[in-house]
Amino acid sequence: MRVAVDEDRCRGHGVCFAICPDVFVLTDDGYAEVPEPEVPAALEHSAREAAENCPERAITLS
Ligand code: F3S
Repeated sequence: MRVAVDEDRCRGHGVCFAICPDVFVLTDDGYAEVPEPEVPAALEHSAREAAENCPERAITLS
């Protein structure tokens, strides 16, 4: 599974990082980044949960 953050939609709520810090990191400005877009199987569940809980729906999974 791959994950991406739409930087135009991200408003820096930080929910993704709170739920799944192994996949999402926050920049100094507080916006989300994904250093490694390919999500290991063991992290898929929490990455999916993060995507579902982003208030801006800025996270896409594929
Ligand atoms: Fe941004 Fe959504 Fe995370 S707004 S910081 S991608 S919870």
